[in-house]
Amino acid sequence: MAISIIRVEDPSSLQDAFEVRRQVFIEEQHVPEDMELDEYDDAPQTIHILARDENGSPVGTARFRPYHDAGVAKVERVAVVGSHRGTGLGRSLMKFIEAEASHEGFRELRLNAQTHAQCFYERLGYKAVGNVFFEAGIEHIAMWKPLSTH
Ligand code: COA
Repeated sequence: MAISIIRVEDPSSLQDAFEVRRQVFIEEQHVPEDMELDEYDDAPQTIHILARDENGSPVGTARFRPYHDAGVAKVERVAVVGSHRGTGLGRSLMKFIEAEASHEGFRELRLNAQTHAQCFYERLGYKAVGNVFFEAGIEHIAMWKPLSTH
């Protein structure tokens, strides 16, 4: 299956990314709509990533943005539509983000993983830190990974 992954550069692709998130987080996971979309979505420093299938349909997304500490970016809203899970797309999205973030000069990525996805991130080299906490009614754990610099 030919999948393309791009950095979102136009409003129509951004809407496609939001549509993936709507399906996955609002419809499937019942995250309240007013929590799912937030002020960081429109922030100029936020970089959105979108995956499309061979027909151009949006099938995955994620975003990253500068975090409080210098050189650190936070990865959020990692989502693959149900039909494409288990195909390596989630891994490809994360690898794409790591390359982009490294290119932008970030040295470390952090994220709050839903605990069911902790193994997914561990396979990619992320380490859990701290205790489990609840966000939008879902169990999460903080994770981080250093990036290789160019
Ligand atoms: N638990 C344990 N391992 C998992 C896993 C899970 N929930 N999901 C994927 N993996 C493993 C795969 O088996 C694969 O292992 P491998 O290295 O042996 O091949 C590896 O992680 C990569 O899997 P991949 O096919 O790339 O994952 P995916 O495309 O299914 O995407 C998610 C993973 C989590 C992004 C996807 O399930 C999803 O969108 N879930 C709903 C939204 C969500 O919960 N997002 C995470 C928010 S923190």
